[in-house]
Formats: sequence, structure tokens, C-alpha cells
Amino acid sequence: MTMGGDVTARNDALVAWYDEHRRRLPWREVVDPYLTLVSEAMLQQTQVSRVIPRFEAFVERWPDPASLAAATTDEVLAEWSGLGYNSRAIRLRDAAAIVARDGWPTSVEGLRELPGVGPYTAAAIASIAFGEPVAAVDTNLRRVISRWVGEPLSGRELAAAAAELVAEPAGTWNQALMDLGATLCRPTDPRCERCPVATWCTDPTVYEPPPRQSRFEGSRRQLRGALVRAHLDGEDPLRAGHALGRTDAEVDRALADLRAEGVLPS
Ligand code: ADE
Repeated sequence: MTMGGDVTARNDALVAWYDEHRRRLPWREVVDPYLTLVSEAMLQQTQVSRVIPRFEAFVERWPDPASLAAATTDEVLAEWSGLGYNSRAIRLRDAAAIVARDGWPTSVEGLRELPGVGPYTAAAIASIAFGEPVAAVDTNLRRVISRWVGEPLSGRELAAAAAELVAEPAGTWNQALMDLGATLCRPTDPRCERCPVATWCTDPTVYEPPPRQSRFEGSRRQLRGALVRAHLDGEDPLRAGHALGRTDAEVDRALADLRAEGVLPS
């Protein structure tokens, strides 16, 4: 691994590149943990270009944790429709309710206690909104750092490398890696000739695809999405399930899960 002065020079080059080339995204315009939380919840399952208009509508309707906390489950589900994984929307609302009551936790550990906030999201909020010096490890960061180091990293090794390499302000560093990974340091066909840190890169061919998402057709996710839509449209859930070729028992099980999670009323 490159060390010492090399790391500093690489970070300086990375941040200079980010200042000039960063994507202008609505959740980057002001530093506000609520905007970071909402954007990260949406970006977990949906690509940036599709998130932008949905994010803008969502935060216009509910501009802060207190307003989102007061929204009903059906209102949140309707505003979330098409973004997938409806239970994430409910957990986001529930997290907003905790923040409205208790204020924001600012550490990774405190943020992780909020519903729906895992290690990546906690690190993203802590670094972007609170300036904590932590790396937000996602698939982009994994790929970029693996190439810097010259071998595919995962698990503890990846976390340790990211923790060692992260520079301050960490929110900028994390988002610079996201943008580098999304625009130049792509999974295949990386654009090394335009990369600001190519000099310090060990092996740009290193790439291990993330685990494939299982097929949507025929999935539990597909059925759950259809049942939530049927609920919002006042339609019969069994008919919606049958339209997908599911049995009554499958529909009943999915309905019971959605009710237990608070996505549908009991
Ligand atoms: N993907 C996840 N978080 C992001 C962010 N803050 N900016 C751009 N893409 C992202």
C-alpha cells in the first residue's frame, strides 16, 4: 500500500478534483443531517438520477424531522412509491420521530440506533453532516480502495484500509470517492486517463462484482410492493397477489409480515 506523503498527495489531488468536478446534487447544497438521512435512505436502492426529483418532492413536503414524524404511514408510502422497499420509508419516518423528540445523535454509534440506519448510512451522516472522521464504506469505495491497494478487499480488511486512508473533511472525502467511483473509476472500463489519482493507483483492473441482487420477478419484494400499492389504491390484496400468480397462503404471509412491520395497518 502507498503510505505517508503519497497518501496526503493523493488526497489533495482527489479533493481538488472533487471541488471542480463533483456532481451538483440537491442534498449537497446545504449541510443538514436530515437531508443526508433522507437522501441516503433513497440512494440505498435507487440510482442518483431517479432519486433527485423524488428527494426534492419529499423534502419540500416534509422539510424537517418534526414534519415527517407527523406524516401518516399511508402518506409516506404514497410519496415513496416507486422507490422500492417500502419498509425503509416507514423506518425513515420513525427515525425522524426519534430525532424530533431527542435531537440528533452525532456519532456513528448513536446514529446506528436510529431505525433503518446501518453502518454505511451512520458513517455517511456522521461524516457529511457532523464532520466525524469516518469512512462510509459502500461498493464504490470498496472498488476504488481495492484498486489503490491492488487487491480486492472486503470485510475487516476493507474497513481497516478505509479507516486508515480517510482524510478530513471526511464528508468531502467520502463523497469524492463516491463520485470518482460513479464517473471514472467504474467497475469495467475505468477512465484512468482522466483520473486525478491514477499516479497513486496500484491496479485499476481489480474488480469483484458485488453480490447480485436476486431476480425481482417472482420475488417476495415484488409481491410486497404490489400489496402496498393495492392498499393505497383501495384494491383487494388477494386479487393483486393472484395477478402475480401467487397463492392465497403466500399473500396472507406477506400481508402478515407487512402488518407486523407497520407498513400496513393491522
Ligand atoms: N450515493 C449514496 N450517497 C451519495 C451521496 N451523498 N452522493 C452521491 N451519491 C451517493
